[in-house]
Amino acid sequence: MASKRDFLTLMDCTREEIIALIERSIEMKNGFNGTKFPRPLEGCSIAVIFEKASTRTRTSFEVGIYQLGGNAIFMSGQDLQLSRGEPIKDTARVLSRYVDGIVVRTFGHIIVEELAKWATIPIINGLTDSYHPCQVLADLMTLHELGVDIGSMKAAWIGDGNNMANSWINAANLMGFRLSLACPEGYDPAETYNTNLVSLVREPVEAAKDADVISTDVWASMGQESQADMRRLDFQRYQVNMELLKVAKQDVHVLHCLPAHREEEITDEVIESRHSRIWDQAENRLHVQKALLEFVMSSSG
Ligand code: CP
Ligand code: NVA
Repeated sequence: MASKRDFLTLMDCTREEIIALIERSIEMKNGFNGTKFPRPLEGCSIAVIFEKASTRTRTSFEVGIYQLGGNAIFMSGQDLQLSRGEPIKDTARVLSRYVDGIVVRTFGHIIVEELAKWATIPIINGLTDSYHPCQVLADLMTLHELGVDIGSMKAAWIGDGNNMANSWINAANLMGFRLSLACPEGYDPAETYNTNLVSLVREPVEAAKDADVISTDVWASMGQESQADMRRLDFQRYQVNMELLKVAKQDVHVLHCLPAHREEEITDEVIESRHSRIWDQAENRLHVQKALLEFVMSSSG
């Protein structure tokens, strides 16, 4: 493959490419109004490597690859020789000779960067400790579908400055919307947040004020299980509940990437309320990832 297109963070795309991906995702979702569905992965095999648990990402990628005519090969991290110390650069070069692309979920972001550096095929980040770009792409599609003008919206992030928060910051800087993050001290995002569009505050009500969308995520991410008790204390004031929604726009949309811990970062009442877009958000993972697979494969070669 002479050149290849990776998707490690949202910043691997331009604003125009993100808009095109969202539009294509909606076409994918609508089934092309009965016309012939494209099969850009016909004859292709995609390795789906997961070193962490997953319900949505794994299933939506495997189903999406199948629907696009391709073959998904699932590999759990522990089944690969990687788990016995085979270097990433060797794994990358060997897999590049068998398959046409790799979707990977792992711990350190440096792992996907190393994989992308040595592989001659496209690498898609299915979540690292630092970023979750496929999820935020689906979040943007969900909001666009709901008629939200992404460029002029105010988004709020409540809770941990984690992989999701970092990808939301990327999205704000790329797409030009305002993002206010409320994170407890000690849990700030690693991504640069002091831009003219992105701000970090300590009070959830300040972030949520006049927001068009409020998004949150678990207080302890995968790999942080041993910190769960401490985090439960530190994040107590950072719950998305009906009281918090009162300061946002009247028809505020609530997003959560799932899995959720009800009554911790979000109440059951909010998840089941008219504000919740969580199920469409989960469904849209399938559609955006199909558009993304088509995009990376067609722009590599
Ligand atoms: N939102 C998300 O990525 O879910 P999974 O961990 O189930 O893949
Ligand atoms: N921040 C969460 C997202 C899960 C989809 C985690 O990394 O576990």
